[in-house]
Amino acid sequence: MTAEHCTLAEYLADWSGSDTQKSAVAETIIAMAAASVELAAIIAEGPFARGLADTVGDAGGGDIKKFLDVEAHKLFKDALAGAPVAALGSEEADDAEILNEGAPMVVAIDPLDGSSNIETNVSIGTIFSVLPVGGGMTPSQALLQAGKEQMASGFVVYGPQTTLIMTVRDGTHIFTMSPADRVYRLTHRNVTIATDKAEYGVNASNQRHWPVAIKTYIGDLNAGTDGPREKNFNMRWVGSMVAEAYRIFIRGGIFLYPGDNRKGYEQGRLRLVYEAIPVALLVAEAGGAATDGVRPILEIKPDNLHQRIPLVFGPGQEVDRIAQYIERGGGDENSPLFSERGLLRE
Ligand code: AHG
Ligand code: MN
Ligand code: MN
Repeated sequence: MTAEHCTLAEYLADWSGSDTQKSAVAETIIAMAAASVELAAIIAEGPFARGLADTVGDAGGGDIKKFLDVEAHKLFKDALAGAPVAALGSEEADDAEILNEGAPMVVAIDPLDGSSNIETNVSIGTIFSVLPVGGGMTPSQALLQAGKEQMASGFVVYGPQTTLIMTVRDGTHIFTMSPADRVYRLTHRNVTIATDKAEYGVNASNQRHWPVAIKTYIGDLNAGTDGPREKNFNMRWVGSMVAEAYRIFIRGGIFLYPGDNRKGYEQGRLRLVYEAIPVALLVAEAGGAATDGVRPILEIKPDNLHQRIPLVFGPGQEVDRIAQYIERGGGDENSPLFSERGLLRE
């Protein structure tokens, strides 16, 4: 049994033992953790570093590419080139990038999540998913496996503390970087998502664009003690999914980024492969659930690296409740619900 406050490297060495595949996963996570320590130092420089929030391009789909997005991508790509990783699928590159031919795994990454918050001194992060390269698969195909095939996932939050929340499918654990020596140490073992927190996270400014089912669900939460839930709910929206997710792991609550009827948002905003899928594994390992409103995220086979997906996660009972609202709202012709492709029609 590993001691409390053991280092990330000790934890992973203990978990992997002499297993070759697990050792490769451990090496990959350690490489990313090292890159995240470097990135944390750059982020902490803030205005002393060169224009971290400068716009350097259009990432497509209405997303703006910032200098720090590009730097973060380079840092993780370089780190993973020295790990047993065949290919990297990143938000910041159109196609999968080959790193080490014949290596046993691939990594999907959002190098910098929450880039609208870079200059605001609000938490931002890095999200990752580790998948095996199965027999006969190309590395690009390996990146498009369903989330249930993941060997590990996690995210780093660069906030008041730098924290790594991670699973190698033996529970979800939090490692906090100790500032004195910049080493990640285990600080929360076997995180479980609280089931009784009356708090939700959603970008409420999109309300008029939401499907009827989501309007009704959030309306019922906002009705508080006067509504069907008979209790008051609090709302929090940071604008960095990593910060919302971290809060939910620490104290509970529900997260929603539904599809809506704005052009380009039919499938919501978040990306399936490197945002929803890794978070869904962490949530599942912490006893919660993640869906696109109806379907479990971990069961969805991606069609392409950058596809978007509506995302709901939190305690299973609340996630199920949202599915019931959607299923009940399914008969309304004016309601686009979550998907133009019609989740309820598939
Ligand atoms: P990214 O910075 O990688 O593009 O991701 C931003 C995402 C996510 O972190 C956050 O939950 C969401 O975009 C915020 O979207 P809104 O600006 O629509 O609230
Ligand atoms: Mn993101
Ligand atoms: Mn990003």
